[in-house]
Amino acid sequence: MAVMALRSPVTVTPAQADEAGTLATLAAATFPLACPPTVDPADIAAFAATELSAERFTAHLAAPDTAVLLARSGEAEPLGYALLFDRPPADPAIARQVPYSPAVEVSKFYLLPAAHGTGAATAMMEAVLSAARDRGAAGVWLGVNQQNVRAQRFYAKAGFAQIGTKTFRLGAHIHDDFILGRTV
Ligand SMILES: CC(C)(COP(=O)(O)OP(=O)(O)OC[C@H]1O[C@@H](n2cnc3c(N)ncnc32)[C@H](O)[C@@H]1OP(=O)(O)O)[C@@H](O)C(=O)NCCC(=O)NCCS
Repeated sequence: MAVMALRSPVTVTPAQADEAGTLATLAAATFPLACPPTVDPADIAAFAATELSAERFTAHLAAPDTAVLLARSGEAEPLGYALLFDRPPADPAIARQVPYSPAVEVSKFYLLPAAHGTGAATAMMEAVLSAARDRGAAGVWLGVNQQNVRAQRFYAKAGFAQIGTKTFRLGAHIHDDFILGRTV
């Protein structure tokens, strides 16, 4: 795919306490991009209203075991965000498959379509890996929908390999994810 250009270099910085609303807007705009086309829009809307709300991001921004990063090009509105959890996987079935200790979860890694294919994802991943290193992680892991081939291709380029599988519940439906990971 041809690499498109952004007007200014991409910077990735920790989100500030007053940016929960910005994050919720960005999250609601980008979450559907990672879902298979068959997903019920009502399930996406319900997920955004609960899991991606400004209140939820306010809590993330205040949590010591959580990091939220925002990617920007120049002074413009953010292009994307990443959400990291610096804690062991809560689900024992996932914990058994994640070989790193300590491990950081890349819970969210999302860019607006205008930033796809521009290199912004590489800049955001470098910041994610750096943040994980700063927290003393041995490795990072994430779940990606098995139909989300574009994200899988990007993660492979970024050094991730499949380390397992898991499921993801959206409304009444169970979706199949790959678990990807890499050392940092
Ligand atoms: C995942 C994401 C951050 C990757 O960033 P990106 O800028 O698109 O990544 P890149 O362009 O560097 O790499 C994507 C690769 O997939 C390829 N690709 C794009 N669309 C594709 C498709 N439909 N099927 C297969 N490959 C595809 C690209 O050609 C590129 O490979 P190449 O560099 O070998 O040509 C971005 O696409 C995104 O935010 N997607 C929506 C949200 C999402 O899915 N997040 C991940 C949740 S786990």
